[in-house]
Amino acid sequence: MSFSTIIQTIRDATANSGTATSAEKAQLVEACNGLVTALETPEQKLTSLCFGPVRALIIRLGIDIHLFDVATAALKKGESLNMQQLSDETKCEALLIRRLIRVLIDMNHFREVDQDVFQPLPEVALFSTTSPISQAMIQFTNTLQHMFQLPAYFEARGYQSPTDAFDGPFQFVTGTKLHVFEWLASNPRYQHANDVTMSLRTKLASQEKWFDIYPLEQHLAATPPSETFLVDVGGGVGHHSIALKERYTQLPGKIVVQDIAPVIDGISSMPEGIEAMTHDFFEPQPCRNAKIYFVGHILHDWPDKQAKTILENIRNAMAPESVLLLDEPLLPERDVTFLPAVMDLVMMSQFSSLERTEHQFRELLDSVGLELVKVWESSNTMSGQSIIEVRRRR
Ligand SMILES: C[S@@+](CC[C@H](N)C(=O)[O-])C[C@H]1O[C@@H](n2cnc3c(N)ncnc32)[C@H](O)[C@@H]1O
Repeated sequence: MSFSTIIQTIRDATANSGTATSAEKAQLVEACNGLVTALETPEQKLTSLCFGPVRALIIRLGIDIHLFDVATAALKKGESLNMQQLSDETKCEALLIRRLIRVLIDMNHFREVDQDVFQPLPEVALFSTTSPISQAMIQFTNTLQHMFQLPAYFEARGYQSPTDAFDGPFQFVTGTKLHVFEWLASNPRYQHANDVTMSLRTKLASQEKWFDIYPLEQHLAATPPSETFLVDVGGGVGHHSIALKERYTQLPGKIVVQDIAPVIDGISSMPEGIEAMTHDFFEPQPCRNAKIYFVGHILHDWPDKQAKTILENIRNAMAPESVLLLDEPLLPERDVTFLPAVMDLVMMSQFSSLERTEHQFRELLDSVGLELVKVWESSNTMSGQSIIEVRRRR
């Protein structure tokens, strides 16, 4: 195929990208990324590697000064904004606005319709304060700042994986003695960003619900109904449980969402049948003999020492027929793709923790008298999600 045909095919794919399925879109992105990697000159590679993250920082600054709120309001009215208007509304110096907006123009957030006159493009709405993506941006740019200090951390502490949840890269960089979750509790803006980012997991179209992967039906006809059907341990603001209750309105027993006080206190109401409970998962589990204990993205926040305590507390509350479901990232033993590989490093820099392989989960569970029964894999191979079913060892 000639290069002109290839170029035209890529342009056609761009024009028709809206009609592609998510799997096709993912394959196209992967193919294009491969092409970029093959074509980039060393200078271009250096630029995208070292200066790519600056885009995230500029977006973050735009969020901080409410630039995207102002732009979204103008977008809705079909208006453009001049630099002075932007400066007045964001209380940001006009020169600084001009310097930031150059990058945002390159990123297709604005079109420069005249000198110092900017037309907001639809992308700006993604980063307005009420958009969950803007909260994820706050969360992840904060994390990125810590990750940029990893070279200094390893130089000072030696090149080995941190395992102390209270004295790792996060504490080294921020100078705090607090664990990340304690630090979040004393920083309401970041606590909010964290809670919203977590609840994105049940809202994004690319994310499957755990009960679409795990066959829940077997537990629905529970006789006799247990007082507590499901305990959502460290369940955040209850997004998984609310989604479950929306799907299955008649469950044989109540759902209990547990989390620490700063999170539970932020919940204004819960649907009927769901109870929000303050509970520290390092203390004995008060809900005993529930049908299901659900643990979503909890163990990857903790090194083995604490992960064992969390599991022991659940195990001690489980009846012989109770099931523990782990909705945790599961790293393949090899051929790990970019995002899971990076998330493992995020866990390391924030929590001195790690993403685990099936083998590592088996060892962890085994060490506390639990048995990995089965890994339920999503039928959507692109999602890579899975649910680990665990029982008490008999
Ligand atoms: C990564 S989030 C996962 C939230 C939710 N389970 C999910 O799957 O999206 C971790 C949660 O653990 C909670 N958490 C942290 N320490 C805790 C503790 N000691 N006891 C109970 N929950 C805790 C956090 O507040 C947060 O909501």
